[in-house]
Amino acid sequence: MSFVTSLKNTFPRPVLHSLRPMAKMVYRNNLNYLALLYGTDKWGKHWYTQHYQRYFHSLQKKRLNILEIGVGGYEDSKEGAESLRMWKTFFRKSRIVGIDINDKTHFREHRVDIRQCDQTDAVALRKLSDEYGGFDIIIDDGSHLNEHVIATFHVLFPLLRPNGIYSIEDTQTSYWPGWGGGINKPDTLMTFFKNLADGINHVEYPIPQYTPSYFDQNIVEIAFFHNLIVIRKGLNNEQSNCPELVQKEIRRMETTQISA
Ligand SMILES: C[S@@+](CC[C@H](N)C(=O)[O-])C[C@H]1O[C@@H](n2cnc3c(N)ncnc32)[C@H](O)[C@@H]1O
Repeated sequence: MSFVTSLKNTFPRPVLHSLRPMAKMVYRNNLNYLALLYGTDKWGKHWYTQHYQRYFHSLQKKRLNILEIGVGGYEDSKEGAESLRMWKTFFRKSRIVGIDINDKTHFREHRVDIRQCDQTDAVALRKLSDEYGGFDIIIDDGSHLNEHVIATFHVLFPLLRPNGIYSIEDTQTSYWPGWGGGINKPDTLMTFFKNLADGINHVEYPIPQYTPSYFDQNIVEIAFFHNLIVIRKGLNNEQSNCPELVQKEIRRMETTQISA
């Protein structure tokens, strides 16, 4: 039984409702608690918020645009928006946008925009990103179909703002045939992202005239967790890997060696 369910069984609804604002104030900096409070499975069933806490705590008070693919509840119009409420409480100055293939627009509220949109609709995704001037954080918790995850990443990652963070949840579907996955299958999402990890070292390839891809040049970190991938966008070339201070030190060492 989850923590939230046991609370629901213990206390009458009006008591729980009266405690909610207080709990929100106390736990607004803790994503694990907020996930339980709002009832998203990012903590309790899955264990994602512990990782998000590390990536997002320094961004918490910034004015960001955050997109989550998958509002939740599937065809049930009464269910959904739990994670959007969690993000809204945690990122207190940010705009939260959720998209879902099912209509969840009735869950819109102050700072939370929701659109009905298929994550494979590249035109709609580009239009949405343009409308917001780009997103700083994108979380893919949509269909989890391998083909969709990869296609959506191709469209949205280039539109992610500099230093943005892109995450993909429920990556276990990479191994599940029903989701287009499979063990040792070449076109799964895990194979795709594992290949991108090599690109982080592309400047070291012993290939003359190697032409780096967009992903080679704009990914500085890929972290693989249980069922979760987190990718950080940033400039990845000879210069960015050798910041000014390091370059200065190299020049100093070179001149010392020459004069010695
Ligand atoms: C796992 S739920 C999202 C849960 C929510 N993000 C949370 O953490 O509480 C997945 C949602 O993705 C939606 N979905 C499925 N296929 C989709 C697609 N092709 N495009 C957009 N949303 C999709 C489903 O309708 C469902 O509501």
